[in-house]
Amino acid sequence: MLRSAILTAAGSGSRLGSTLPKALVPLDGVPLLVHAARRLLASGEVTTLVVTAPAAHVDDVRAALAGLTLPDGTPPALTVVPGGASRQASVAAGLAALPPGDGTVLVHDAARALTPPDVVARVARAVAAGHVAVTPLVPVVDSLQAVADGAFAAGHLPVGGVPTLGATPRTGLGIVQTPQGFDRATLDAAHAAARAAGVDGSDEATAATDDATLVERAGHRVHAVAGDELALKITTRRDLALATLLLADQPR
Ligand code: CTP
Ligand code: MG
Repeated sequence: MLRSAILTAAGSGSRLGSTLPKALVPLDGVPLLVHAARRLLASGEVTTLVVTAPAAHVDDVRAALAGLTLPDGTPPALTVVPGGASRQASVAAGLAALPPGDGTVLVHDAARALTPPDVVARVARAVAAGHVAVTPLVPVVDSLQAVADGAFAAGHLPVGGVPTLGATPRTGLGIVQTPQGFDRATLDAAHAAARAAGVDGSDEATAATDDATLVERAGHRVHAVAGDELALKITTRRDLALATLLLADQPR
């Protein structure tokens, strides 16, 4: 088996507001991307890792990842490449740098630093079972309310508010996590189709915030497996504080 994973770590972390790129921000003294990479490899499902790094931090990212091992004690095949201007562009850069493998690929966010190895294994096994696209999902626990198009364009409702369009039942909805798993040719083709359509992830209105969405736009069904609350995306200071508590709660 030569299963590959792309670990996206090229973002700046603007919402976290740290001087370091987010993937290099420490959680219990260990950079987020190292937490994520360790858990990916601990699944036993990944032997080849391509990491997208901020262009100015390729060497720092490589240094942070030195010494990683597979469950059998051997080192993984590791490549660090500069990412792109959007997450989508970074994943595309990772795909371009992937060595030949077993025809499948996982795509994981360094920002989901605490994603447990069994989520990785569930995703990888579902791809091996023949699903061309797989995503972990967790249930929505909040009540949902639809509002007019663009109402959250600035991330929050405009002063004065907007009319609501109706409550949305949450029972059929899931929150998307990573790693997502793919038949590699299918993911390559979905990225190529997005680029051909002028979608590069830079325009919020057309961007796909995850790869399963790109594959879905290319006409494929996405298979869901159970995610985990530990796979939360660390976006804000609050998330980092929560991840610190969750990590302290983990068996060592
Ligand atoms: N990412 C990437 N290349 C980009 C943007 C994001 O590889 N150009 C990665 C991030 O490093 C992260 C994942 O994609 O692991 C999810 O992105 P997000 O949580 O949005 O991270 P940032 O873009 O770094 O954060 P922000 O949007 O707050 O700046
Ligand atoms: Mg971002």
